[in-house]
Amino acid sequence: MSLKDQFGKDVLLTGWGHSKFGKLTDETLESLIVQVSAEAIRNSGLEPRDIDEIYLGQFNSGMQPLGFTSSLALQLSEDLANVPATRTENACASGSAAFQQGVKSVLAGTARNVLVIGAEKMTDAGADVVGAALLGASYEMAGKASTTGFTGLFAEVAKHYEKRYGAGLAGAGLGDILGSIAAKNHHNGMDNPYAQMHRDFGEEFCRTVSEKNPMVAEPLRRTDCSPVSDGAAAVVLSLGPASGAATEPVRLAGFGHANDFFPAERRDPTEFAATRVSWERALGMAGVGIDRLDFAEVHDCFTIAELIMYEAMGLTPRGEGSRAVREGWVYKDGKLPINVSGGLKAKGHPVGATGVSQHVIAAMQLTGTAGAMQLPNARRGAVQNMGGVGIANYVSILEAV
Ligand code: COA
Repeated sequence: MSLKDQFGKDVLLTGWGHSKFGKLTDETLESLIVQVSAEAIRNSGLEPRDIDEIYLGQFNSGMQPLGFTSSLALQLSEDLANVPATRTENACASGSAAFQQGVKSVLAGTARNVLVIGAEKMTDAGADVVGAALLGASYEMAGKASTTGFTGLFAEVAKHYEKRYGAGLAGAGLGDILGSIAAKNHHNGMDNPYAQMHRDFGEEFCRTVSEKNPMVAEPLRRTDCSPVSDGAAAVVLSLGPASGAATEPVRLAGFGHANDFFPAERRDPTEFAATRVSWERALGMAGVGIDRLDFAEVHDCFTIAELIMYEAMGLTPRGEGSRAVREGWVYKDGKLPINVSGGLKAKGHPVGATGVSQHVIAAMQLTGTAGAMQLPNARRGAVQNMGGVGIANYVSILEAV
């Protein structure tokens, strides 16, 4: 089985663009969108007039006053006049929502070439506005006052996890395991020119609460959190390659999407149950097991999310995710390198941009154009992007052509 067997056609990633992530004071949401769109179209070998449809992933939720952004990409070219454009919103998975809508347009035959963009400009707003906007992605906390923001929600996940599985962590405390994940991703981020944070903090710093690494919401320290970021990424999805493309295309082998119930009481906080289903759907469509992946870019909005992801993706049984760190599986030279880009942790997490960014980074790996991030023999990789606490879940399996 493969996506092509199921739908009778291939969906290819034919071009992509990626802005620097970080606090980008000289950029606007519009300039970021136009920049990455131009890059993606140019690299695909197409012209703006060849684009049949546009999807923009953006969360916003009050971080930017402009609440209607689907047409911003048209600023790139007169030739984009009248192209249908839609904004998708699925919290921190808004970018992957745009990606999968674009895939469905190509599969439906209503578009031959779709421009998919993910963008977010978070740092124009104050920390209180950003915190309130992000809490809009919580059923219980939307509109409520909080001193710990979204970090507080994942801190609760970490506490439940430690209570249930802490005894099985083989001597290491949960804080140490999470510190190792943070140190791994910060180390990897050193090789990513797009990353917001180029700081190889090391294990000791990430494991220790200090003036420079304060507790944000017990047990999550600053280094357990992704930063607040600006940035954008774009990809062109096509039925076939165009001549003049900058690289070989990348094939989408399978995709999965599953949403969970929103109220926390309807979910087990130690298991991202719908995330697991999205992995099963994507791997099932691609017709491969997790052992056939060469790398994965996963949604480490907080280090506890990456730990539970090892279990949701089937790398380890539940409660045993720490093995993947302790035994080195998820490091760059391990059996399944995870977040070689630095992940959200070091690369940054401009929320609506993240899903598209993950696809772009994976496409770079699969075309041998990932520069210092490049893994040897990367032929198949996975991308996983999540909105809320395991609520909106997307997985893509991508292959070198
Ligand atoms: N990880 C590591 N270092 C970080 C960091 C992070 N996430 N965020 C900021 N820093 C560093 C800065 O580079 C700066 O370093 P310097 O003093 O050496 O220059 C220092 O910490 C202070 O930066 P500041 O921006 O003042 O930090 P802060 O305390 O205001 O914010 C967090 C830190 C973790 C609270 C903030 O990044 C945050 O809220 N992150 C979570 C965002 C979120 O919820 N996203 C959605 C996820 S679903």
